[in-house]
Amino acid sequence: MKFNQVTLEVVKMLSSVVGPEHIVLPAAADDMLRYTHDETEDLRYVPEIVVIPANAEEISCIMQYCHENYIPVTPRGAGTGLSGGALAVHKGVILSTERLNKIISIDERNLQATVEPGVITQVFQEAVIERGLFYPPDPSSRGSSFLGGNLSESSGGPRAVKYGVTKDYVLNVEVVLPSGEITWTGANVLKNATGYNLTQLMVGSEGTLGIITKIVFKLIPYPPQNLVMLVPFRSEEEACAAVSKIFMAGIVPSALEFMEREAIEWTSKYVAVTVDIPEDIKAHLLIELDGKDMELLFKDAEQVYEVLEKYDVGEILVAETEKQKADLWHLRRNVGHAVKSNSIYKEEDTVVPRAELPILLRGVKEIGAKYNFKSVCYGHAGDGNLHINIVKGNMSDEDWNDKLPEGIKEIFRLCVSLGGTISGEHGIGLVQRPYIAIALNEVQLRLMRGIKQLFDPRGILNPGKIF
Ligand code: LAC
Ligand code: ZN
Repeated sequence: MKFNQVTLEVVKMLSSVVGPEHIVLPAAADDMLRYTHDETEDLRYVPEIVVIPANAEEISCIMQYCHENYIPVTPRGAGTGLSGGALAVHKGVILSTERLNKIISIDERNLQATVEPGVITQVFQEAVIERGLFYPPDPSSRGSSFLGGNLSESSGGPRAVKYGVTKDYVLNVEVVLPSGEITWTGANVLKNATGYNLTQLMVGSEGTLGIITKIVFKLIPYPPQNLVMLVPFRSEEEACAAVSKIFMAGIVPSALEFMEREAIEWTSKYVAVTVDIPEDIKAHLLIELDGKDMELLFKDAEQVYEVLEKYDVGEILVAETEKQKADLWHLRRNVGHAVKSNSIYKEEDTVVPRAELPILLRGVKEIGAKYNFKSVCYGHAGDGNLHINIVKGNMSDEDWNDKLPEGIKEIFRLCVSLGGTISGEHGIGLVQRPYIAIALNEVQLRLMRGIKQLFDPRGILNPGKIF
């Protein structure tokens, strides 16, 4: 694809749309810095301009102009993505949604809310909790991630295991297409059998089909009670094996997270939360049960204990205070950051049917031994979603750049052979693009490319991603 550059004339035009105070140029290096990266590895790409529009109409003008002039546009939320989706790899324009940050309405009669895409996930969660309502998707970055970005990646997080991921809460979306047309994708209803599901097509489309300008979310009643426990295992594989057995016993925890020993050890130092981990402990499950009635939760917990008794577990820590619960969650949510602070790394977002998790984990370690890389694994075990952090440590640049991708391919082939796929919640974006054909066949890819072509015939929107 041949794109045009952002000339002085383009800058003038874009600046006239959003106002000169809402553009950033590379010369303003300090202001530009945060738009050059997301949370993916150590990747950096400098766009030719950042535009920060205020509404759908401004976005429509920008898109129409860039479409006519073959200028690439990379949409950007908070930049917390883990697959490089918000990186301007073909330069051009970064379109930031940070000023579209209003919660437009919370409809308590229908348990729905309408928001702009630049609302921070946690801000939204807290606003609906005040009304006794719950928006469950809670990626680890929820303190800074934007809802629009969550929708674009179909983000999950720990509570997805009981409540589902972002896609399960999106009812309707207003989008601006590359042509500049503004449209809603569906209706504000819980059921919709009216034609193709354009709403869900936008979910997980990683900013390649349109710019999201409003979202209507479904909400549910807030479950006020919970129990949180940390269960130490003497074998990583046993920890993984216990996961599917908990569900088979009829329990659906509101979170069921796996952390191998180093994940919890490194993070404990990183966030200064002390956990006592005896020498022989190899992994932990962090289990949360939630609901309305504490008595029922204790009964569920007993059933969980019955399952755990069959495994070689250490002393189970049941959080007794809200502070202890918050510490355990703080620990879990910071594993990614802790690993990152230790070494250059790559994070894989593998997912398999949950009962296959022990085979996946064993396979990852075997592949690591074969290709000589170290991995620190953790993630949403209840969803079969294992984050594999591959740390560079003292691996040579040559092995890191040339040999490791072969190892990653083996991991992904293993996932697919187990009935899984190569990303559960981080997306394909830039970094998993070379591997997509492991997960998708020619027919699937042809259909997806056809959809892209229909929405964005000139390929200006987030080029270089997914395919
Ligand atoms: C997490 C992010 C990395 O689970 O997905 O912490
Ligand atoms: Zn995750």
